[in-house]
Amino acid sequence: MSRSAHPAGPRHADVLPDGHYAAPPADLNSLDEKVWSRTVGRNDDGVVTVAGLEVTRLAEEFGTPAYFLDEADFRARCRAWADAFGQDADVFYAGKAFLSRAVVRWLQEEGLNLDVCSGGELTTALDAGMPAERIAFHGNNKTVEEIERAVRAGVGRIVLDSFQEIVRVAHIAQSLGKRQPVLIRVTVGVEAHTHEFIATAHEDQKFGIALAGGQAAEAVRRALKLDGLELLGIHSHIGSQIFDMAGFEVSARRVVQLLAEIRDEHGVELPEIDLGGGLGIAYTSDDDPREPQEIAKALGEIVTRECESASLRSPRISVEPGRAIVGPTAFTLYEVGTIKPLEGLRTYVSVDGGMSDNIRTALYDAEYTVALVSRTSTAEPMLVRVVGKHCESGDIVVKDAFLPADLAPGDLIAVPATGAYCRSMASNYNHALRPPVVAVRDGQARVIVRRETEEDLLRLDVG
Ligand code: LLP
Repeated sequence: MSRSAHPAGPRHADVLPDGHYAAPPADLNSLDEKVWSRTVGRNDDGVVTVAGLEVTRLAEEFGTPAYFLDEADFRARCRAWADAFGQDADVFYAGKAFLSRAVVRWLQEEGLNLDVCSGGELTTALDAGMPAERIAFHGNNKTVEEIERAVRAGVGRIVLDSFQEIVRVAHIAQSLGKRQPVLIRVTVGVEAHTHEFIATAHEDQKFGIALAGGQAAEAVRRALKLDGLELLGIHSHIGSQIFDMAGFEVSARRVVQLLAEIRDEHGVELPEIDLGGGLGIAYTSDDDPREPQEIAKALGEIVTRECESASLRSPRISVEPGRAIVGPTAFTLYEVGTIKPLEGLRTYVSVDGGMSDNIRTALYDAEYTVALVSRTSTAEPMLVRVVGKHCESGDIVVKDAFLPADLAPGDLIAVPATGAYCRSMASNYNHALRPPVVAVRDGQARVIVRRETEEDLLRLDVG
């Protein structure tokens, strides 16, 4: 939603308690294509459709809350990334954003690789048939069991995150009679402009090995000496939901400078660099995300320029977008329950989900939009806060938004751009049942992750 400093004479209901003025959109029935997936529209009856399917019918068939994932959009985004980076680069989808067997199959069909960061993600990837050599394994505290499994499976890369892990992976690989291809994750010391919990390239945090103070150079020295490791290159991930290209550019430059130092010290030109993920998406109409071509061009130019000036061969580049691929492809469908107008403040609209299916608002202060999708309305805009059904006041899905004043219990509302880090971070808080993910494509809907049941809850409770 668009927010600005308090202009002269706003309507009382439009002044947010933080002193900002929120302008209602010109037309509450319109759907900004920036935040909705590509096949979303409204039909002649005013009902929102996705892939040609009416949300009212989807709600009847699959219930609410539920995530609806636009498969054609997901595949198109995969192709856009693969095309932008071309033959001389690799795109690894970051599975932490959202992973299921169907997603793994789509990635394979669209020619993408996969980044996993736990035994569970690795199992899902292998089970769905992703070739091990197309998997990169991440994490700051991989267990010995996870490392053994990854090495045995033959994953294409393990991304080493600490001095201890360098030795641990080398030892495990050697004892299995293997030489494991690895990258070393470095922290390049840039402050990414994003929420502090999802910034990862400054030094005071848990990931990677600092370039500063020669730590990364020392890690390379040690890795090159170990027979169990085949050091392929350097990895850097600066954070997530980033719009500003500057951080990626600094990171690319510093990683290439490290390659040059390695060449000078060891006479080895490492063949790869991985510049991580982190590209931001539009959650509201105010966000202006970069396109994959822009990122590919900017990174490619910097790497080429830096390599030329250091007389290095250009390494193969990889990137790891998660949010930018899956984020915009899904929305969460909720049914409106109670509606509570608070005089002079705002109206609280409670839905049948909440922080258990979208923790991002509570955790990162994330902003979302919302729309009435089961019908259109010509009623006046009303300032709302969309909240869940959990037992805490921070259970907020959409902080500030406008919905029509005739909103009523039983209406369906949807929150767009919930494909990334919503189902994958969903919880059972208050014994909520985690919602299903329904893939929609060409007039067909199919459940790819089913709704949790009370039997599922009881099955885990073995006391
Ligand atoms: N590569 C590495 C090594 C990562 O740690 C991550 C994300 C990615 C790639 C993918 O980043 P993306 O392109 O999706 O921004 N739960 C937070 C985001 C945490 C990101 C963790 N790492 C959120 O909901 O915003």
